[in-house]
Amino acid sequence: MAEHTQRLQDSRVFVAGHRGLVGSAIVRRLEKVGCRNLLFRSRGELDLCDQSAVDEFFREHRPEFVFLAAAKVGGILANATRPAEFLHDNLAIQTNVIHAAWAHGARKLLFLGSSCIYPKLAPQPIKEEYLLTGPLEATNEAYAIAKIAGLKLAAAYHAQYGFSAISLMPTNLYGPGDNFDLQTSHVLPAMIRRFHEAKISGSPSVTLWGTGTPRREFLHVDDLADAACFLMENYDSPDLLNVGVGEDLTIADVAALVARIVGYSGRIVFDSSRPDGTPRKLLDVSRIHALGWHAQIPLEQGIASTYEWYVAHAAERVSAYQR
Ligand SMILES: NC(=O)c1ccc[n+]([C@@H]2O[C@H](COP(=O)([O-])OP(=O)(O)OC[C@H]3O[C@@H](n4cnc5c(N)ncnc54)[C@H](OP(=O)(O)O)[C@@H]3O)[C@@H](O)[C@H]2O)c1
Repeated sequence: MAEHTQRLQDSRVFVAGHRGLVGSAIVRRLEKVGCRNLLFRSRGELDLCDQSAVDEFFREHRPEFVFLAAAKVGGILANATRPAEFLHDNLAIQTNVIHAAWAHGARKLLFLGSSCIYPKLAPQPIKEEYLLTGPLEATNEAYAIAKIAGLKLAAAYHAQYGFSAISLMPTNLYGPGDNFDLQTSHVLPAMIRRFHEAKISGSPSVTLWGTGTPRREFLHVDDLADAACFLMENYDSPDLLNVGVGEDLTIADVAALVARIVGYSGRIVFDSSRPDGTPRKLLDVSRIHALGWHAQIPLEQGIASTYEWYVAHAAERVSAYQR
């Protein structure tokens, strides 16, 4: 059993957003190391936008450690059409949870941001100190502004009240529990689904957006959960920390890898009339490496297990999205 999980094991631990990609991975990780006192509530049971309900929950249950993995998350379309919701809900969730955790005596809180908080044209790889050094990507500005406010709030509670609130900035995540809805999913789960469906239907080719040349970094969500538990035990600073693998690859290479794992042998066509997005997005992970944490799950292995999960859950996921 890992050294860093011992304090969590015997404590009351609240995982906010436990049904999501990140929250469910944190729960798996905590259960695996024998955490006996896990607290979670579905959104129906506890709406984290509701300040008095959040306060009441913390007053009653007094969690000692809080993983804040609940957020309103979405793709470009959702961000562009519903910016008020992205700003409001994320500001409300993080303000309510951070404040209640501090007010009711939690020992530590971990807040999750995202690499989209960094300036659109940040030099690569992106160091933590590039935060607020340039304009944001316009398509997810509302979400990024809320997340920046969240990590500044955590840092302010750390500075003013000595509350141990820490902030992680994960790179692109993937893994079991991912969103495979083609309207809203990220690139990797979208590829898994499209190659799988093309294999089943016998399509001779799959067309992907863009040139295939942009470079992206992918972290398995179980690695993020491992980092989150490690840092909950071993890190106590208001300075945010990037979490990634420190390596990236081209979209064309990812596509070839996914096609091979899925067993799709048709052609992969890139439609260069479609937008590429930013040419490169790679986090500098030297700070977290210096603390002794490294990602463990190789991309090929991670995609293979995610594909297995997708095949096992495809029918139920698709019907859930159609409801
Ligand atoms: N996915 C990525 O690639 C990625 C990358 C970097 C950072 N992150 C960060 O990781 C965190 C979690 O992301 P995720 O990908 O796990 O998102 P997700 O799968 O959409 O999960 C978010 C969770 O938050 C819950 N939630 C949302 N609003 C709520 C509310 N008002 N009250 C209670 N619960 C609420 C959702 O509940 P319902 O199930 O009821 O909707 C869901 O369980 C976010 O802060 C995100 O910025 C994600």
